[in-house]
Amino acid sequence: MATATEPEPKLRGDSAVDPRDQSRGPAVRAMFAGIAGRYDLLNRIISGGRDQAWRRRAVKTAGLRGGESVLDICCGTGDLALMFAFAKPSPAAVIASDFTPQMVRLAADKAGRAGIAMPLCVADALKLPFADGSFDVVSVGFGVRNFQQLDAGLREMARVLKPGGRAVILECTPARGVIGRLAGWYINRVVPWVGNRLTRSKDRAYSYLADSIALFPDADALKARLEGAGFSNVHYRKLNLGTMAIHVGHKPEPIA
Ligand SMILES: C[S@@+](CC[C@H](N)C(=O)[O-])C[C@H]1O[C@@H](n2cnc3c(N)ncnc32)[C@H](O)[C@@H]1O
Repeated sequence: MATATEPEPKLRGDSAVDPRDQSRGPAVRAMFAGIAGRYDLLNRIISGGRDQAWRRRAVKTAGLRGGESVLDICCGTGDLALMFAFAKPSPAAVIASDFTPQMVRLAADKAGRAGIAMPLCVADALKLPFADGSFDVVSVGFGVRNFQQLDAGLREMARVLKPGGRAVILECTPARGVIGRLAGWYINRVVPWVGNRLTRSKDRAYSYLADSIALFPDADALKARLEGAGFSNVHYRKLNLGTMAIHVGHKPEPIA
């Protein structure tokens, strides 16, 4: 995200959805509905087959203790939620949610094929249908960048966590230097060219991907936003040469 001293990054601007639009929820949902059927294929192609390894790392970073409850929001086709469901030590329950019904249906099919009874629901991450303090872990993979209001979404994650629970966020992060320039070229040129064609996305979802990454807070700024949303002991680790980050933030325990 641009600061007072940094100019706004140059955007492609050819997606039907503007990542700066704070009321883009319905447009984001329609865009993901349009690419749902080819979403997994494109993930494998544009990540060079690495995306499942990044999700595995996020699950490991969550440090499950066994018998915990996990909510995976913005679950898409369910890859991260299913990894939590298969993780050891086993969680007591993994629930997955997303506001795009087409994605939830694909996640349900995948869970069925994997023989996992995983509850799923269609729900907006900014208004989750769960009581305060319901989960030990709330995870989100490549989802927070799409929140129409980032801070409200992070506060909602904190709300549904139990005190002492943790949020785990796997997300693309703007990189700097030579790697940043190479990654920028790949994300801005190659990914939209391949992604928009292979998915026939009329909304140009893979141009939105490029622009939403360019505008997204860097890892330090996201850490600060998590702290601002009430999380404590926030830390992150970068992966994929600094172009991805996994943030973990804890919901503070009440002071006795
Ligand atoms: C890039 S996909 C990520 C899917 C999955 N987590 C993964 O690891 O591949 C983003 C998902 O977030 C969902 N999404 C975006 N904004 C949302 C919101 N406000 N509430 C719920 N889901 C949302 C979209 O429908 C889409 O399925």
